[in-house]
Amino acid sequence: MNSFGLDDTPARKRDEEIQRSFRDRKFRVFLVTSSDPETDNMLLLRAKCLFQKQLSKMPKEYIFRQVFDSKHINMLLVNEDGTVAGGICYRPFFEQSFVEVVFLAVDYDFQVKGMGGFMMDLFKENIKMDARGYEGLADDVLGIFRYKNRIIEDLDCFPDGMVNGMPHPLYIMAYADNFAIGYFKKQGFSSEIRFDKWVGLIKDYEGGTIVECRVYWEINYLKKKEFIGKIKNKLLEDMKTVNEYHVIRGISDYSKIRKVTDIPGVFDAEYPAQNSTGSLYRLILYLISDLRGNASAWPFLKPVDPLEVPDYHRYIVKPMDLSTMLSKLEKGEYKFIEPFVEDVKLMLSNCFEYNGKDTPYYKCAQILQGYFDDKLKFYGHVIARFSTPQ
Ligand code: COA
Repeated sequence: MNSFGLDDTPARKRDEEIQRSFRDRKFRVFLVTSSDPETDNMLLLRAKCLFQKQLSKMPKEYIFRQVFDSKHINMLLVNEDGTVAGGICYRPFFEQSFVEVVFLAVDYDFQVKGMGGFMMDLFKENIKMDARGYEGLADDVLGIFRYKNRIIEDLDCFPDGMVNGMPHPLYIMAYADNFAIGYFKKQGFSSEIRFDKWVGLIKDYEGGTIVECRVYWEINYLKKKEFIGKIKNKLLEDMKTVNEYHVIRGISDYSKIRKVTDIPGVFDAEYPAQNSTGSLYRLILYLISDLRGNASAWPFLKPVDPLEVPDYHRYIVKPMDLSTMLSKLEKGEYKFIEPFVEDVKLMLSNCFEYNGKDTPYYKCAQILQGYFDDKLKFYGHVIARFSTPQ
């Protein structure tokens, strides 16, 4: 339990309840593909019925073909009475390091109870295991032909974080039904597409939006709430070293409080420039941390490695990145806000200059530029206090 009660949220309790139901065998998880001769076709038929019911706008024959397609796998949540409570029909493209979600659904009776979230977390863990296993199957072009039906018996079989996952990121691609975009976003999907190896490989779906989700090797999605809780706690501890948000100041004499800024702490927070030499440092530290947390910041976290990009320094004379800015900040090289803003612009313009418009790097720079401009506008009144004196 932490000071913000993160561990006690209703969503967390709901997720724990679902995992408990799974451990108590109230439902089981089957991985079924028609390519396995041992397949229980009745189970696939029940899955097909669920998808047809929940995705009523999709042609029934289309759903039938997808569920029974030998290249597809169905991850099915099956109740004690054999009915299917939810499922994901998917196709692995491990060679291209992604998995296509053909469709997914939770039965109406089980919706809005966290089942869809649990299903996606388990799905991510499961494909990570399979992708890692696939790495060893060099002679099997699609991996799928060796796929055997399985039952996931135990949630603890998934490691707490695969630091030694595959050398490259794994993605999930899906055409999200427009009604389900909110659900996909909650599961880490985004319609800003950076990954491109899926192009030409997956089916187009009218009325849907293509979304992608990067699956992180270092996170166990079935324990994501603990993972996020740990990071938040660490952040709160770190914040204590740069500001005094945690200090509760008492008021000993109310007769001395004549205006808001007389309240202990308010003046420091409102007028940091006049009162504290460390405020510019904190502001820039905040802006760097905020940029680093942006999903499009990954190309800018560290300096470009000349071993990986040998000709980079021939074209870019003044390289810049977020870790360099952080060390400049720590060495006290930013006396005013402008040189920092110039460094961010330099970092982005370097990227525009070196990379082609169609590259993910260029797209990331565009996203980060828009994001940073918005930040500057939003915090304009604070930033103005740290400008170079005229
Ligand atoms: N819009 C916005 N948010 C949504 C949402 C929606 N349509 N559906 C679910 N969410 C959110 C929930 O609020 C919850 O958020 P929280 O974790 O912060 O509390 C989170 O997503 C998980 O919700 P959950 O209860 O686990 O989802 P679910 O069991 O209801 O399943 C679907 C979600 C989309 C799978 C289910 O509604 C469904 O089967 N729909 C019909 C089929 C469909 O549209 N499939 C997708 C196209 S392929």
